[in-house]
Amino acid sequence: MLGYVTLISLIASGIVGHSAATQEWWKDSFIYQIYPRSFKDSNGDGIGDLNGITSKLDHLAQLNVSAFWISPIFVSPMVDFGYDIANFTNIDPIFGSLTDFELLVKKAKSLNLKVILDFVPNHSSDKHPWFEKSIKRIKPYDNYYVWKDGKIVNGVRQPPNNWISVFRNSAWTWNEQRKQYYLHHFTSAQPDLNYRSAELNEEMKNVLTFWTNRGVDGFRIDAIILAFEDSRFPDEPVIPNTGLPSNDYNTLRHIYTQHQNETYQLVQSWRKHLDTQPGSKKILMTESYSGLKELTESMKYYQYGSDVPFNFMLITDLNNHSKAIDFKRSIDKWINNIPKGDYQANWVVDNHDNRRVTSRFGVKRADQMTMIAAILPGIGVIYNGNEIGMEDTWLSWNETVDPVGCVAGPIDYQFTSRDPARTPFQWDNSTSAGFSTSNKTWLRVNPNYRTLNLAAQKSVSFSHYTITKKLIALKTSNLMINSTTEVILVGENVLGIVRRKSKNSLFVLLINFLDTPITIDAMSWMNIPEIMSVYVSSLETKIPAGTKVNTSKLLLSGAASIIITNYSYNYLQ
Ligand code: NOJ
Repeated sequence: MLGYVTLISLIASGIVGHSAATQEWWKDSFIYQIYPRSFKDSNGDGIGDLNGITSKLDHLAQLNVSAFWISPIFVSPMVDFGYDIANFTNIDPIFGSLTDFELLVKKAKSLNLKVILDFVPNHSSDKHPWFEKSIKRIKPYDNYYVWKDGKIVNGVRQPPNNWISVFRNSAWTWNEQRKQYYLHHFTSAQPDLNYRSAELNEEMKNVLTFWTNRGVDGFRIDAIILAFEDSRFPDEPVIPNTGLPSNDYNTLRHIYTQHQNETYQLVQSWRKHLDTQPGSKKILMTESYSGLKELTESMKYYQYGSDVPFNFMLITDLNNHSKAIDFKRSIDKWINNIPKGDYQANWVVDNHDNRRVTSRFGVKRADQMTMIAAILPGIGVIYNGNEIGMEDTWLSWNETVDPVGCVAGPIDYQFTSRDPARTPFQWDNSTSAGFSTSNKTWLRVNPNYRTLNLAAQKSVSFSHYTITKKLIALKTSNLMINSTTEVILVGENVLGIVRRKSKNSLFVLLINFLDTPITIDAMSWMNIPEIMSVYVSSLETKIPAGTKVNTSKLLLSGAASIIITNYSYNYLQ
């Protein structure tokens, strides 16, 4: 292939070891999200569980991620598959028991993996005893939720204002027993908790302590931006001409329900609380979909104690129509807006709420987002299945269980359901992809598992798995620590990211945004050496590691993505 000169050899192994300069373990690391229902089923009921996770922790250790965060595992009626919690301090029997959790933590520690739990403070389940007591106005629970009288319009009772739930329709549901409306930003089975209650605040701090006492290394905080509402409860302004149905969340400007000042203070109070806990500093990761549009709000969470205000730009702001310049703008914008101080950038590749990266950017570009997350400074966050290029699973209306899919109806569910990205992890080509011994799983296994599975990818030298391993190895090595970062457009269609430590140590990511080949003079555009070696390339690009390339006339195949370096590895033989 023109541009790639000599083949030196394959890199036999990844780079391992953390930099001595790393202050917190999460600086320059990869964090892996586990969706527990779909990771590994140990008891054959078709639903993943804690013992299943424990049995597969070796996989995470081999990938060399530093930590994993688990979507909720607590007692739940499962209306929103665990995000409706009926007991914040116990494990749902579907997933196992507190003893199983203890074993999980023990195994994780033995593998040097940090454990992060999902903390869901915005709401509980309507089956939580607190809510049941709140309905009965039993003190202090009467004030644990957000209750309001209705508005009487022309003699008819109406919700107190026009607020809409993230999952569509009014955010208020009438309770006949208490004779008031309660607020719910998600399903009506997820009543919003009221942080203006001092007692509730205490309860939730105790929840944090309960889990840190059990060895947890930090929390991902769910839906934090909605924790407080303006206490005057005004209508939110309607955005004109969205073309959306009037019951859609995106028809309102959420100026009274998102990012209220007290919300930041709440995060800060948890930060302070966790800082009093024994052991090493606990990580706080906050879920905020405000993204690049409301960057100021997102960035503020850093200053109030979030270590990782999730950066969802690869999910919400960029897609397969984005051009190299869109990526450059978005990356620069995020990096340039991080407040001054010891704050880390982060790059979320995927999660359980969105279409998988293979759908958002196309199968050919499956590895590219992890490559971006790996080369850029800070934390990369991947979702189970990214490491093998898992694809969304088409599910029929009858198979749909996600409340967001169900509320949309038999046609529109296809555009809103989150089920396609939640199907079981594909371990091998045995029954149910090795996820369960049962051939009936809570969501159907993607039929492509026979060829697309971890075992198959481990058995070959070039696969999404081997690529991901090398990317994680690169980030967690000390080779890019203290390097500068330059995001460069190499012409209109190629994005370049250079991490420059010294003249003799630089790593360069190049992505061709065209689906057709292109020859570029990366040497002049990026001021990089003429001869460099491939560290890793995407599966689509398939250039063996160690291949020498001439950067002054570099041929990138369609959708190609490579990381090259001039670093002289001792393992480049
Ligand atoms: C965000 C979670 O990621 C999502 O899965 C859930 O439905 C909502 N928050 C409500 O908890």
